[in-house]
Amino acid sequence: MKKTVVANWKMNPQSLREAEGIFKNVKKKALKLKKVKTIFCVPAVYINRLDSLCKNPMFIGAQNCFFQEKGSWTGKASAKMLKNIGADYIILGHSELRKLGETDENINTKIKLTLRNRLNPIICIGENERDEEGNYFSVLEEQLLSILKGVGSKFSEKIIIAYEPIWAIGKASKKIINSKELLQTVIFIKKILVDKYGVKNLEKIQVLYGGSVNTRNAEDLILNGGIDGFLVGRDSLIPDHFNKISQIVEYSV
Ligand code: PGA
Repeated sequence: MKKTVVANWKMNPQSLREAEGIFKNVKKKALKLKKVKTIFCVPAVYINRLDSLCKNPMFIGAQNCFFQEKGSWTGKASAKMLKNIGADYIILGHSELRKLGETDENINTKIKLTLRNRLNPIICIGENERDEEGNYFSVLEEQLLSILKGVGSKFSEKIIIAYEPIWAIGKASKKIINSKELLQTVIFIKKILVDKYGVKNLEKIQVLYGGSVNTRNAEDLILNGGIDGFLVGRDSLIPDHFNKISQIVEYSV
């Protein structure tokens, strides 16, 4: 299976013109990659246009949807709407939304809605802090099991897990995970997935890492961290950096 590199543009850039500029600069390189699938998770307002410029192995994704199917919900977008304007993937459960009050139960509902609408969820999990006693393992287990509650094994090939330790995300983060800590955590996540979906489904579920991925740390993390790719925030808005990270992943296979 190809490795996966996801760009999470968050609420950037501020104009469609800039969005096309970033996209086109990445596209030139992304189309040449043989072993990497690139997913651009962009603000919903750019999905339609960027989807029209997109070509395999590139895909467009959204960054959220609402947990209701349709109706009187001012300001919200449904999973079906996002699918209908061209999204194939969707980031769910990002810590920036959890911080605003999104619960595991909301995320679980969204996962089911997106799968019903043939969108592939990129599901974020991650601990707030890494305590020495290792309590973060049970935090991860609880998150994973509650957001995947009732999601059957027939969906295993649709699901991508993004492990994003909150303490390592964004410019406020003081440190980044090292590849040994990452490997240990990924093995733990995979063990939970095996228990839930069985060994034969494990290889269908990709586990990505996100949180301050950059051109300097990508090589060690992909070679030694046991992951299937990255979810990149800040550096996904800088085409040269993002292209370099994708290249590193391409050569890691
Ligand atoms: P970052 O963001 O790469 O800027 O740390 C990652 C994310 O929040 O998905």
